[in-house]
Amino acid sequence: MLVNLNHLFKQHNNYAIAGFNVYGYEDAVSVIKAAENLKEPVILMVNRDAENHIPLDIIGPMLISLAKKASVAVSVHLDHSICMKSIELAIQVGFSSVMFDGSQLSKEENIGLTRKVIALAHPHDVSVEAEIGSVGYSDPAVKAKWIYTEPEEALEFYQATGVDCLAVAVGTVHRMTAQTANIQFDRLKRIHEMVKVPLVIHGSTGVPDEDLKKLSASGVSKINIGTSLRMAFGKTLRQAMEDQPDEFDRIKLFQLPMQEVQRAAEQKMQAIRP
Ligand code: G3H
Ligand code: ZN
Repeated sequence: MLVNLNHLFKQHNNYAIAGFNVYGYEDAVSVIKAAENLKEPVILMVNRDAENHIPLDIIGPMLISLAKKASVAVSVHLDHSICMKSIELAIQVGFSSVMFDGSQLSKEENIGLTRKVIALAHPHDVSVEAEIGSVGYSDPAVKAKWIYTEPEEALEFYQATGVDCLAVAVGTVHRMTAQTANIQFDRLKRIHEMVKVPLVIHGSTGVPDEDLKKLSASGVSKINIGTSLRMAFGKTLRQAMEDQPDEFDRIKLFQLPMQEVQRAAEQKMQAIRP
């Protein structure tokens, strides 16, 4: 069943929902299998790398079709977009949710453009995520600021936009390969107490398992995970190729990586739930 984030948050308000970055059919189908096995809702997210690899009007309908056939609730979400054209296209092809990432802009520009995206999205029942503060990247090739979210700023942003959910920077960093992020739970608690909006944590591959559980209790509704599944896929694909040096059929080579992505997604969802 395809639903937007507001629907997911309303139906599932006891702990956070996992959002996984997916890059094609193989990982998307594995994530949905994981969610169905655990009877959990899930969010499939298309980021800019995925969009550059497969145009939104190709990957969107494929993910939407998988979501509609799933036995659990699934949102199909455009992740970290800064491009109005992409956001318009995502809405047009039926994404149930979009993120406008104005974290690298001034507060005023971020507010103005987020409002514009909400005006485009809401008439189509598409939910909108935005970011205040800036979750940095461990990869030096990505030039992004590292700015912790101030509770007062989050409140001002929410009051000015009425956004459906808000990504905050409280100690996570994108693309970490080890679970060593140091979450500032005090900051998160102050934001949650001050701003009555579902909160989103990005860069959650780096969050230790015991802290994934604690996030829900601190007002987090959506936990974004990407690198962990990319590692699961890439490492097992390498293994499959080394183990079967004469095999050239990609469908056969993808079997092990797909199983491993499903296992990794299930492990994260189990770590999140209380
Ligand atoms: O928006 C996507 C997430 O923030 C993914 O971050 O790759 O560090 O898990 P991650
Ligand atoms: Zn992110």
